[in-house]
Amino acid sequence: MPKVVFLDQGLRGDLPEGITALEAAHRLGARISSICGGAGTCSTCRVECVVNPQNLSPMEPLEDAYDMGPGVRLGCQARIHGDVGLRTVKIPRAVLS
Ligand code: FES
Repeated sequence: MPKVVFLDQGLRGDLPEGITALEAAHRLGARISSICGGAGTCSTCRVECVVNPQNLSPMEPLEDAYDMGPGVRLGCQARIHGDVGLRTVKIPRAVLS
């Protein structure tokens, strides 16, 4: 089972291979947003993989559409296939005027 660490929240655990980063966050009790419930349509579940990014599934076309920057993935789309170190990514609130 892969070791999954949320570096920004001091959480870690051994979780089943193939689990999404969002599911991993929920199981470990990490604070992460997921407004669309994992449908891939809100982009609030962003995570940055800072250790062993090669152990995540390849980028989905859906993720490319968000232009999230290097190393940043949608937690609900990125599946974990080996040990990884992750950080949740906070998205600033939109300012409406
Ligand atoms: S939970 Fe909405 S895009 Fe991942």
